[in-house]
Amino acid sequence: MDRLVIEGGVPLQGHVVISGAKNAALPCLAAALLSAEPVTLRHLPAVSDIRTMVKVLQALGCSAEIEKDPEGFELTATLCAAGLEQGDLRAPYELVKTMRASILVLGPLLARFGKASVSLPGGCAIGARPVNLHLEALERMGAEISIDKGYVEAQVPGGKLKGMNHTFEKVSVGATENILMAATLAEGTTVLRNAAQEPEITDLAQLLVKMGALIEGIGTPVLTIRGVEHLDGGEHSVVADRIEAGTFLCAVAAAGGDVVLDRMIPEHVRSLIDLLERCGCVFTERQGQEGMQLRVQREPGQKLRARDVATSPYPGFPTDLQAQVMAVLTQASGISVIKETIFENRFQHAMELERLGANLRIDGPTAIVAGPCALKGCTVMATDLRASATLVIAGLVAEGQTTVDRIYHLDRGYAGLERKLQALGARIQRVGGGSVS
Ligand code: UD1
Repeated sequence: MDRLVIEGGVPLQGHVVISGAKNAALPCLAAALLSAEPVTLRHLPAVSDIRTMVKVLQALGCSAEIEKDPEGFELTATLCAAGLEQGDLRAPYELVKTMRASILVLGPLLARFGKASVSLPGGCAIGARPVNLHLEALERMGAEISIDKGYVEAQVPGGKLKGMNHTFEKVSVGATENILMAATLAEGTTVLRNAAQEPEITDLAQLLVKMGALIEGIGTPVLTIRGVEHLDGGEHSVVADRIEAGTFLCAVAAAGGDVVLDRMIPEHVRSLIDLLERCGCVFTERQGQEGMQLRVQREPGQKLRARDVATSPYPGFPTDLQAQVMAVLTQASGISVIKETIFENRFQHAMELERLGANLRIDGPTAIVAGPCALKGCTVMATDLRASATLVIAGLVAEGQTTVDRIYHLDRGYAGLERKLQALGARIQRVGGGSVS
């Protein structure tokens, strides 16, 4: 099994190009099921979750042509969901259990074919993560849903979902995406209130509009979708990954250095920029040749200040950057309080950070970090995707050698993280096998 070996203490210097967002790419791939014509997606990150979603689509009967970019960080995929009617429209447990986002095929399948069978995703390292909000909304659109032998068995009497007025009980990224896709082919108009506003949803909505969907209120908590008879194919470049960008910002904040992030959208990480600025980092934004550039600087030896942060839905501070920011705050002078409000069990990285020398206390949904902590390298184990990134960041800071084990979690969502860090001068090596990206 691969692991990363890091020699800490080197400030990061140079340029890094941010890849397309995994969390935007996944629903965009699922959206290919809505049309019988080809959908071409560019800037997909070359990560294992994308390969899993492509496998789910292939299992359902889609064709897929994939090309890797010369550097190996991104993919272009052309998916075609023509001729699926003959299949049994079943997303199998073997694939779904490795990636919860597979549930995103449910809305498109029901909307286009009036039936679907999707394995329930099951448990997850960071919390319960139920799918009740997805299922309740689809039922309100006329789907009949039962759970049988671990599968969500769904069908729509009459074949067509119906538009509805719906207020999500809780803000959910995945439920908003699933129901948005379902509503594009429903009979009549759907109004979704308390919809999530994450940039990945805006990106999905933009693809759907290119395919012929009629959507108003994109980027707001109220989405109005007028159903159409069918959707066309389309071409789309997936938005830059704000979580990958945020991870690099945290790496520079923690390890020190001067790095320019290319092809990203600073507005999408505004809450992190604000926090790191208050900690003492310096940011400069400018228009680059391929989109915006963001420069982050922290002089070696410059002290960081402790600050408090609480996660919340976009535009609030993302739960997917909570772990990385904890590594930064171990280097800040004073007491920082981190509150996790989205997932109930998302502090597993804290124990591993403690092994590296972090001074932390967890109290329910709150983590208290007393810094600055002198981190010392040792072997640590990744427990989930973002926790893995935190351990890499801590390894970049720690004195001596840090080994991060179980990095298959990291490979689910970061395209060549170690290669991008090497290019910034970090001493980091993958050992035990080849890179999957
Ligand atoms: C997505 C992201 C994930 C991110 C999360 C929150 C993808 C592929 N994943 O996950 O990286 O951490 O948003 O920003 O985009 N909930 C329910 N019932 C439901 C659905 C959700 O109670 O049916 C709860 C969840 O348990 C959680 C909260 O709602 O407490 C938010 O979850 P949600 O926004 O749905 O997360 P995902 O879409 O799974």
